[in-house]
Amino acid sequence: MADKISWGIIGLGRIARKFAADLHQVPTARLAAVASRDTDKAIGFASEFGAARAYGSYKELLEDKAVEVVYVATPHSFHLEHSLMALHSGKHVLCEKPLAINAGQVAQLQKAASETRIFLMEAMWSRFNPSIRETLQRVKSGQLGKPSYLRADFAFPALDRDPSGRLLNPELAGGSLLDIGIYPVFLAYLFMGMPYEIKTVAHFGATGIEQQIGMVFKYPEAVALLYSGLSSRSGLSAEISGTLGSIYLDPPWYKTDGYQLQIGEEPSQISLPAQEKGFLYEIEEVHHCLQNQQRESNLWSLEDSHNLLTILDRVREAAGISFPGESAG
Ligand SMILES: NC(=O)c1ccc[n+]([C@@H]2O[C@H](COP(=O)([O-])OP(=O)(O)OC[C@H]3O[C@@H](n4cnc5c(N)ncnc54)[C@H](OP(=O)(O)O)[C@@H]3O)[C@@H](O)[C@H]2O)c1
Repeated sequence: MADKISWGIIGLGRIARKFAADLHQVPTARLAAVASRDTDKAIGFASEFGAARAYGSYKELLEDKAVEVVYVATPHSFHLEHSLMALHSGKHVLCEKPLAINAGQVAQLQKAASETRIFLMEAMWSRFNPSIRETLQRVKSGQLGKPSYLRADFAFPALDRDPSGRLLNPELAGGSLLDIGIYPVFLAYLFMGMPYEIKTVAHFGATGIEQQIGMVFKYPEAVALLYSGLSSRSGLSAEISGTLGSIYLDPPWYKTDGYQLQIGEEPSQISLPAQEKGFLYEIEEVHHCLQNQQRESNLWSLEDSHNLLTILDRVREAAGISFPGESAG
């Protein structure tokens, strides 16, 4: 493998810009090419972020032999199609969350990654945040005793946005759940595993998308309270407590710079500032895997993505959330 890993980005929207900025901060990464459905947009993006080549179609980028790994940054409903295209073109893939819109589609991607023997990972960037990694270790090593309670929220006002945009458009799997509700659900899965019972309450908006959802997950000896919404702001806070102590992640918890640990009466504040926009940790994880010939991350595996989408499928079923023309993969 060359001294630098060559990346390509397809779908040059809001997250692609943030990701490209962080890619520059990783010394072993090079932005080789970017692709948009619009050539001028690709050229502008390439000149702003220093990409060597700009393409007016995703297919052309996937034919570029210099590109080793592709970051898929298109709306959720295209993740299956674009990740499959990339895998079948022989490119390693980091695909934005959710890896696909349901567990059946994730299974299809798992199969393709296994058959092509190519690396694939969901860009669940919070998994690689230093505080989330450290607090998980604390919980797993029993410092909090037996986990009993987890609470996490993620909401911001967005109902005034373009109804055809990906947040409010059902055709693009819009709604709060797959966009931001996925984070509280991820946290509950990471710390507590698979719930055996799920209850939900949800409201739906003018375009038919779910616009806010409260979720209660039941585990053998624990409960998680989760919330996401597009109708108002929330504190972006998260906590987990066990029989011996508690952890309070500093807001915004999904990209937190630290946490409070309370064992007994005395709280202590732990500071672990996340670097740059917080995406470079997932980029470093991809590099680590490729350098070690791993086809999956040990920290966020394809089984983890499948489990996460399985839980989200169950939440959707409980709340009555469906997307038009959805295929099960
Ligand atoms: N990790 C995070 O913090 C984070 C934050 C935000 C979003 N995301 C994820 O990233 C993905 C993209 O989100 P975003 O906020 O960047 O969305 P966005 O601003 O709407 O950009 C998505 C891009 O996808 C491309 N695209 C291809 N087909 C499209 C279609 N039919 N309609 C609209 N766009 C289409 C477009 O790029 P071209 O015009 O260049 O082809 C568009 O600019 C989502 O799955 C989301 O969950 C992650």
